[in-house]
Amino acid sequence: MLTSAPDSAPLLHLQGVSAGYGRIGVLEGIDLTIRKGEIVALLGPNGAGKSTLLKAISGLLPRSGRLSFGGVDISTAGPRETVRLGLVHVVEGHRVFTQQSVHDNLLLAGYGLPRGEISARVEEALGFFPEIAAKRADRAATLSGGQQQMLAVAQGLVRRPRLLMLDEPSAGLSPVLVDRVLAAAAQLRDAGTAVLLVEQLIEKALALADRVYALARGSIVLEARADEAGLAQRLEQAYFGQGAHAPLSPDGGSPAQR
Ligand SMILES: Nc1ncnc2c1ncn2[C@@H]1O[C@H](COP(=O)(O)OP(=O)(O)O)[C@@H](O)[C@H]1O
Ligand SMILES: [Mg+2]
Repeated sequence: MLTSAPDSAPLLHLQGVSAGYGRIGVLEGIDLTIRKGEIVALLGPNGAGKSTLLKAISGLLPRSGRLSFGGVDISTAGPRETVRLGLVHVVEGHRVFTQQSVHDNLLLAGYGLPRGEISARVEEALGFFPEIAAKRADRAATLSGGQQQMLAVAQGLVRRPRLLMLDEPSAGLSPVLVDRVLAAAAQLRDAGTAVLLVEQLIEKALALADRVYALARGSIVLEARADEAGLAQRLEQAYFGQGAHAPLSPDGGSPAQR
């Protein structure tokens, strides 16, 4: 069962995935594929179901349909099992432990990993973010918002993910810090890690990503290569439906409530 898939096979594969909260259905029939070392952007207006989809993938929410990761069926796997397989989810609005040091935050993120390995994993994660590595002994409360976001991403990296799912990692950050956090995703890809990125800053997401999916009202409404001509316009139509003339606003507000 635990045979690993060849590189050409999808790392993550979803077929007909539906999920919601209790009786409230949110996602319907989601098909999605991510290959090794690929950055995939997941875009869509507020309330479209992006965070719900990440939760369904990592097993934080029950779902129906078929999901596989690295050739392993994860359709019924919970969050502990997916993380053990190398599928790491940095949840929306993830908060670090502000009263703990940067280093201790990373040790906590490595909970359950083999003892002899944790130090090396922590150093590896810090290697992506020199600005927080320099503050490893400081309490996380002393970090700027952007640095705390970097720490949140670094916590995910301690697990040495094969797929890192980042839910709006740049929320509330200045443009410079957004670029720093997103640059880490590019570095990860170069190291062979796949990234699924939920991002409201569409242009930045498209500049970074290899492929893009747009989600609207719980369904995938567009799948494209990120460098496809006319993509911004197609996204606009996908977000708001054909014929709507709403601008593609970076805050994701949907004027097209029909
Ligand atoms: N814990 C929850 N309980 C019930 N409904 C929820 C919950 N979280 C989100 N929803 C609903 O699910 C839909 C999708 O939300 P979400 O996945 O957070 O969207 P996005 O991340 O794209 O903004 C929304 O209608 C939202 O109100
Ligand atoms: Mg969300």
